[in-house]
Amino acid sequence: MSMPQTPPARGVTILGTGRAVPEGRLTNQDLEKIMDTSDEWIVQRTGIRERRKCDPSKGESAVSLCTDALTRAIEDSGIDRSEIDLLVIGTVTGEMTCPATACRVGKRVGLGNAGAFDLLAACSGFVYGLNIAHDMIRVGRCRTIAVVGCDVMTEVMDYSNRGVSILFGDAAGAVILQATEDQSQGILASALHANGERWADLYLPRRERDVPDQDDPNELQLGTLQMRGREVYKFAVGTFANLIGETLEKAGIEASDVAQYVCHQSNARMLESARERFGIEQDRMYVNIDRYGNCSAGSVPVCLDELRSVGKCQTGDLVMFVAFGGGLTWASSLWRL
Ligand code: COA
Repeated sequence: MSMPQTPPARGVTILGTGRAVPEGRLTNQDLEKIMDTSDEWIVQRTGIRERRKCDPSKGESAVSLCTDALTRAIEDSGIDRSEIDLLVIGTVTGEMTCPATACRVGKRVGLGNAGAFDLLAACSGFVYGLNIAHDMIRVGRCRTIAVVGCDVMTEVMDYSNRGVSILFGDAAGAVILQATEDQSQGILASALHANGERWADLYLPRRERDVPDQDDPNELQLGTLQMRGREVYKFAVGTFANLIGETLEKAGIEASDVAQYVCHQSNARMLESARERFGIEQDRMYVNIDRYGNCSAGSVPVCLDELRSVGKCQTGDLVMFVAFGGGLTWASSLWRL
């Protein structure tokens, strides 16, 4: 008779990170040439100056970005790729729904028969994946898990829709998580939330029947992201701050205890408002939206990799990951690295 397993006492560490962004740039000046907008309007409302854009003619895609980011994370972690038990990719822009992007990336990276699946939580996809992967390691189901966040948002933009298309860009970021004997490392508090009642505020319709009653399918381009910008902004600005508050409270710590807030880059004004509410200094809430725009699930892991490459987010630091996105979904993850 098999006995119930007691979870092994173990911590979880982020062993390595990597990122990949396409070389192609789409600046505000480029957008001025194809739509009625201005650099000043975009910078003032969002903080964005340029974004990256995949070039399919060069073979750039969600699969290629994930492959590059994951390869770099494996190199950075120093592990052998055969150690990876599971690959989780948060994305809403995989080329196909079957097979999962993760299966094709696993094949390219050489992960053998490691488990692989995609996770759909829009801009929150990476943080959702991070929480799930962490807990699978903590309870002893897996020893090493790769989590990737990636979106190729330029493929789902309608560039005649200026209220949406100025916001988004393409990127992937990856982390390697592994079990460690140091039980102080890993998640101190986390949150996963969704509110499906608000789904029509941010959605990607494939067919006419996907379009909600309040929108006219003849006035939108199927296969492109639809958004009620002002509603999303109002919801997100409060939710973002509440999520930080909820996570601090669960962990029983103060905002000032956290070394770095690694947040989804949806709008510089939203980040600023959360920063001010908690009195967080500028250098403890990273911003790269000016260079990349909103890269959906790619935003948070790209921020983490950039921070690590300048010596931030070191072992022992308290780091909070925060994201918000379509669904509507929102999630956080507070780590002792
Ligand atoms: N350039 C110039 N003018 C633009 C424009 C653009 N790119 N996009 C919209 N406008 C115009 C609108 O047509 C509107 O004009 P009108 O008053 O004559 O009708 C005016 O600017 C204001 O539009 P509105 O949509 O109310 O602007 P806003 O201040 O809410 O800013 C967003 C728009 C999209 C920047 C803002 O709502 C936002 O950031 N929302 C959250 C989006 C988000 O983060 N989504 C992802 C979540 S993960």
